[in-house]
Amino acid sequence: MSNILIVGMQWGDEGKGKIIHEQAKIAKEENNKKTWIVRYQGGPNAGHTVYVRMPTGEIIEFISHSAPSGLTNNSDIAVGAHVAYDTEKFLNEVRDARRLFGYSAGIHISERVGILFDYHRKLDALEEATSNKKIGTTKSGIGPFYRDNANRRTRITFNDYVGDNFHDKLKDVLEIKKNELKDIINPDYIDELIALHDPIRKELKEYKCRLEYRLRDAFDNKENIIIEGAQGAMLDVDMGSIPLVTSSHLLSLHAFPSLGLPRNPFKIYGVQKAYPTRVGEGSMPTLADDEFGNKTQINSGEIGATTGRDRRVGYPDWVLAKYATLINDLDGIYLTRADCVQDKDIKVCTLYEFDNKQVPEVPLKLDKVKPIYDSKRYNWHLWDGLTDLSKPMEVDKLLRPIRKSYVDKGFNGLPKGLLDYKKDFEAYVGKPIVGISIGPAEDETVR
Ligand code: IMP
Repeated sequence: MSNILIVGMQWGDEGKGKIIHEQAKIAKEENNKKTWIVRYQGGPNAGHTVYVRMPTGEIIEFISHSAPSGLTNNSDIAVGAHVAYDTEKFLNEVRDARRLFGYSAGIHISERVGILFDYHRKLDALEEATSNKKIGTTKSGIGPFYRDNANRRTRITFNDYVGDNFHDKLKDVLEIKKNELKDIINPDYIDELIALHDPIRKELKEYKCRLEYRLRDAFDNKENIIIEGAQGAMLDVDMGSIPLVTSSHLLSLHAFPSLGLPRNPFKIYGVQKAYPTRVGEGSMPTLADDEFGNKTQINSGEIGATTGRDRRVGYPDWVLAKYATLINDLDGIYLTRADCVQDKDIKVCTLYEFDNKQVPEVPLKLDKVKPIYDSKRYNWHLWDGLTDLSKPMEVDKLLRPIRKSYVDKGFNGLPKGLLDYKKDFEAYVGKPIVGISIGPAEDETVR
């Protein structure tokens, strides 16, 4: 059985969706037990992209924001108590998956999870527009949602949502929030919300459960459980680049209490791109404001899956990788998009300089950090020609056989430059690289 947790090690967008989808497929091949994909934090600010290979050989791009990445592999999906649950998006994604892939597996929603409403999005947008201290949020309502959760009286749980007293509960909450909302909602607002949500509530009601008990049953029954993180370590509300972070607890160990699962049987894997990217405001110590950064951004299609904003690109930052490994208690690491930086002389950051010291540590404030690069350069060549991720389908046809031959050969078949990178990275970080992704599709990770 597989007990796995996948988290992001940078600023999100590391390729977690692909790795989770692959792990689900591997689990299904290894045993005939049920497979669960479970989300434990964040909400529609995430955008998990999976390239699914259809029986015809074509690949389809599927992006989910609210539903876990189990829709593409017919796994049971579950939403835990600490998620910002956007029911409308969730239902649309489930419907899309039913249509595209014939999705038919089980759905399990914690009765405790809080519901994210349109007024959270409106408040998020308003605060971003009017504050002179911008966070660069995804405007999905995440900050206002978690504020309401912590406020207790303003949290609408899934139990409230699908229950008979939902209309009264919503009225009470809007009454408490009336000053906050006075300039952004009209008198009919509550009726509009009710009209939108009544049919959704009806459809989702049957999925309500006491998730912690159902997951423990699944664990005891040796079913496969894959826990899915969203965003990345540097966006954690406590341990990220405060204040330019998201509002949830996204580090791996937060998953266990909110899902009622034990940590020890789980393997925790971090995912990091061969180069970091950051969308939104805030410093990135190894920002590559040069040809490496510009070319990588364009050729690799580094555009946010949720907001369509450009992602800034940086040089590999091993100081950050070690920090993410520490605070997530990682057992191993997946390196993604190694193909996107082939044929480049890549430098890696191994020390941060701040307060007149050079240390391999991440401070609270990143804006004063100067990256110190090792003198060694890494260069690897996988195949001739460019990997243009903005045209994945065309590239797929051309490169699929080459990628497959690397996957078939395993780590030992990779070019020496990439193996050197792997070896030095592992020595620096102290944990193994367990997989290297060399293509966007589901069967393109070397293990
Ligand atoms: P929020 O989570 O929408 O409030 O945004 C807070 C910060 O986190 C902003 O810099 C966002 O761009 C960033 N962020 C939130 N979710 C993601 C994600 O899934 N990928 C990348 N950045 C994200």
